[in-house]
Amino acid sequence: MKNIKFNTEFTIYASKEALKEDVQELFKAAETARKDAYAPYSKFLVGAALKLENGEVITGSNQENAAYPSGLCAERTAIFYAGAQFPNQKILKMAISAGLQEKALDRPIPPCGACRQALVEYEKRQNIPIELYFMGTEGQVAYSESVENILPWIFDKNVL
Ligand code: THU
Repeated sequence: MKNIKFNTEFTIYASKEALKEDVQELFKAAETARKDAYAPYSKFLVGAALKLENGEVITGSNQENAAYPSGLCAERTAIFYAGAQFPNQKILKMAISAGLQEKALDRPIPPCGACRQALVEYEKRQNIPIELYFMGTEGQVAYSESVENILPWIFDKNVL
């Protein structure tokens, strides 16, 4: 018998202002995208912005549906668009801004499990980590050096 341990480490920044200029810009794009979220059912609005190696910024927001499971999270909306439109561009980083429509939220909101699985597919495909930054509508920002860092022991193409 043996135990396996995974080490997951996050960096917490006091606010967006503590981030590098380009990540602050990425958050601006995520916040703009968040305003266009279509979330009449949950009223939880999420915006995601990712930066490609050619400098292009791709954004997405959550898109809900009256048949609830038919909707899609912001992170997957953004990354699937990037995969469809820029299949040969590596994704360097992603910023996620999330919170209820009418209320400020001052703690980092991490991506859901299904989004982690979708994101890690692209991380493995491109062979370099995707840096993740996530926050609520204000306050602290959490940083993870990769997607795999928040989804240890992944199911990926190597098991097929
Ligand atoms: N949502 C996202 O867009 N990203 C996540 O990682 C978690 C949840 C959306 C889905 C749904 O529209 C709303 O937030 C509430 O779950």
